Amino acid sequence: MQHIDFSAKSLYVHIPFCKKICPYCDFIKVLENDKFIEPYLKELLKDISFFIENNFKFKTIYIGGGTPSILSVNFLEQLLLNLNKILDNDAEFTIECNPESLTENKLKIFKKYGVNRISIGLQTFNKNLLKILDRDFEIDYFDLIKLVKKYIKNINVDFIYGLPNQTLEILKEDLDNFIKLDINHVSLYSLQVEENTLFYNSGIKEIDSDESAKMYNFILDFLRKHGFNRYEVSNFAKKGNESKHNLTYWRNEKYYGIGVGASGYINNIRYRNLGNLSKYIKGLREKDEEILNLDDERKYFLITNLRLEEGFDIETYNKKFKKDFLNDYKNEIEFLLLAKAIAINNNLIKCTDYGLLTLNLVLEKFI
Ligand SMILES: C[S@@+](CC[C@H](N)C(=O)[O-])C[C@H]1O[C@@H](n2cnc3c(N)ncnc32)[C@H](O)[C@@H]1O
Ligand code: SF4
Repeated sequence: MQHIDFSAKSLYVHIPFCKKICPYCDFIKVLENDKFIEPYLKELLKDISFFIENNFKFKTIYIGGGTPSILSVNFLEQLLLNLNKILDNDAEFTIECNPESLTENKLKIFKKYGVNRISIGLQTFNKNLLKILDRDFEIDYFDLIKLVKKYIKNINVDFIYGLPNQTLEILKEDLDNFIKLDINHVSLYSLQVEENTLFYNSGIKEIDSDESAKMYNFILDFLRKHGFNRYEVSNFAKKGNESKHNLTYWRNEKYYGIGVGASGYINNIRYRNLGNLSKYIKGLREKDEEILNLDDERKYFLITNLRLEEGFDIETYNKKFKKDFLNDYKNEIEFLLLAKAIAINNNLIKCTDYGLLTLNLVLEKFI
């Protein structure tokens, strides 16, 4: 049974199945298996019925994975039909897709049930790198995006940079090709090599911080020149195309998360559903819960909002947490202003380009 928090206007739904496991991926996912998919869906529908019965209307719903697009048309129809019942008018409704499993029939189903945003894991256009990522599908991404545009206009693609042997030239080719796709949102993540991945076990290393900064600055420059605003460390959009759902996280607003591994933030609780698929399928809903006092909430507020290009309003912070930000952090602010890592204007505080590049060092001063 979920706790109730009607101030939560966003819902995350996790689909943990993938056709194969990519060698770099550390998300909560399992190999697809018909034995599990149907019972998982059944349990997920039970969770969704809680929101239907309580008349929730979400402003944003995000189906992520794993690979949601792996579900059959029939399963997608069942899932989307039910999620559509708890979707507010003018809501943002996103589904995450892997290029390999996205078909025209599925796009039709997405559109039929109100999905109006799609996020596709493209990673790179470079054939050699795609081979290293074990994602050398026989897919022309230009044709794929053309097809998606027939049904859904609001499209994001994910890229990874800092891949083994990736040069600035290869990165530039990726960005040039991205511009040719003519879409309005892109996420670019620096490769993270996590334990328990094939990349880690085969000794692949992350690029060093200087190299990473060089690539990041190149991306920032390039995308700005092409009319994209960075609105969060790794996310860039043309004006008005920012992801409303992801902004919920970064503005530290409330949201529900359902399905294995999903996290949520309701009332004063941050929770994470445990990732055990067989327990979930048996109807067990185990989660880790962190009960937050006002000071914990304040810290989360800083950690999330400082990722945003827009930063946050100091007056809002002071009222919310009964604090005096400028006074409480007088020395830290002086230091960070001198280092040109933050900027304060009209009561708004934000990280500069340099500050976002060294975000952890900025956060250390405040947390
Ligand atoms: C849940 S995953 C992907 C969606 C979909 N399953 C796919 O693979 O196309 C979301 C995104 O995280 C990024 N990602 C995954 N593993 C990563 C890693 N180790 N380092 C950096 N980015 C990663 C990828 O860009 C990926 O598209
Ligand atoms: S990157 Fe996507 S498709 Fe690959 S294992 Fe992770 S979630 Fe699955």
